[in-house]
Amino acid sequence: MAQNFVATVIWQKSHSRNNSAQHFSADHDFIHVYARNKAAWRRNRVARTSKSDADFWNPDNDPRGDWRRSDLTAAKPYNDGKYEVTGPHGDKFTPRAGRYWGVSPTSFEELRADDRLWWGKTGRTFPFRKRFRSELGDLVPTTIWAHEEVGNNREAKGEIVSLLGRSAIFATPKPERLMEQIIHIASDPGDIVLDCFAGSGTTAAVAHKMGRRFVTVELSESNIDTFVRPRLEKVVKGEDAGGVTGTAAWAGGGGFRLVRVASSMFEADEDGDLYLADWAVGGELARAICAQVRYEYEPDGPFTGRRGRSRLAVLDGMLTAGVAELLLSKLADRETLLVVAQAIEPGAEELLAARRGGSKVRKVPRDLARRGILPSQLVSLTSTPDGDTA
Ligand SMILES: C[S@@+](CC[C@H](N)C(=O)[O-])C[C@H]1O[C@@H](n2cnc3c(N)ncnc32)[C@H](O)[C@@H]1O
Repeated sequence: MAQNFVATVIWQKSHSRNNSAQHFSADHDFIHVYARNKAAWRRNRVARTSKSDADFWNPDNDPRGDWRRSDLTAAKPYNDGKYEVTGPHGDKFTPRAGRYWGVSPTSFEELRADDRLWWGKTGRTFPFRKRFRSELGDLVPTTIWAHEEVGNNREAKGEIVSLLGRSAIFATPKPERLMEQIIHIASDPGDIVLDCFAGSGTTAAVAHKMGRRFVTVELSESNIDTFVRPRLEKVVKGEDAGGVTGTAAWAGGGGFRLVRVASSMFEADEDGDLYLADWAVGGELARAICAQVRYEYEPDGPFTGRRGRSRLAVLDGMLTAGVAELLLSKLADRETLLVVAQAIEPGAEELLAARRGGSKVRKVPRDLARRGILPSQLVSLTSTPDGDTA
């Protein structure tokens, strides 16, 4: 939603001019950043880079290591901001017009005592503060990402070709370093990364290498067969030495499940009201509901599935008191019941709960659709922690 818009990042996807472009040679793509809830969202900082650290040095051999000059003055007027300081050779300094010391006289003397002031190589120039690299934290992300930092399209194509061979050409892959930066900023290890457009599977591969879980979805089976599945298999087996494998210290492990998502059980009319799709009746309804409520499919008399001691009954019609009695009569000792029905006769739910505590009733589609309406014929790959690639 618009109020959760955070920023637009410009990614330099190419650094070579396309001289056959009709108008301009496009160098960049946009990455629009939205939070689910902007007020609550906290981004991670990004690691320092050799570019951001290029101006550190150590001309005075400070044992605390490399440092960078930092201005001790600011434009903000401040009561005590115009005092005079004396350099190591007796030179006197005050901030120039329009500038004020950013630290109090006491803090200034503390910095001096701790050898955190730099008066130039001669010891006679205007003082700066020494900021040690070892004491600086990671960086706030910026909105222009150069290809040197996060890779470009050519690098991305190379990553796929070196992993899957010359025949694996994907038109718009993203470099692993780009996805690493995005995933790092927006998630922590163990979080779930969702990519609804798997393509060549870069997002899932990088998420897995970075210790995140993932769900990725792809419409094209050929993309799954050519790119996503073989790529993720290599990542899991530790056979992908490219991309961010080195920086993420990835050596293989984990696994993923490949799931074909069936047609939606639900359809919506013009008013947005849900009803069951034509196919989702009888046995098909029972089977689909079993999957939705995560019961093992186990047809047995009036029951369709089982999860531990709970039996599932799916009714292509109404749960009446009579049906409830029948189902109860078929339950073994200590078994409970989950009934999913299209309609519920008043009192039937209470009867079940009273006769077999822990039993529940759900109305379809109302109660189950809340778990998500499934789009048709997608293939989804989901990471699993313990290596059961399937
Ligand atoms: C531009 S690619 C994604 C590239 C990917 N980020 C990568 O790095 O490889 C978009 C992918 O989305 C898939 N796709 C398009 N419409 C879809 C849909 N409705 N559901 C799932 N996948 C879809 C396409 O088949 C294509 O593989």
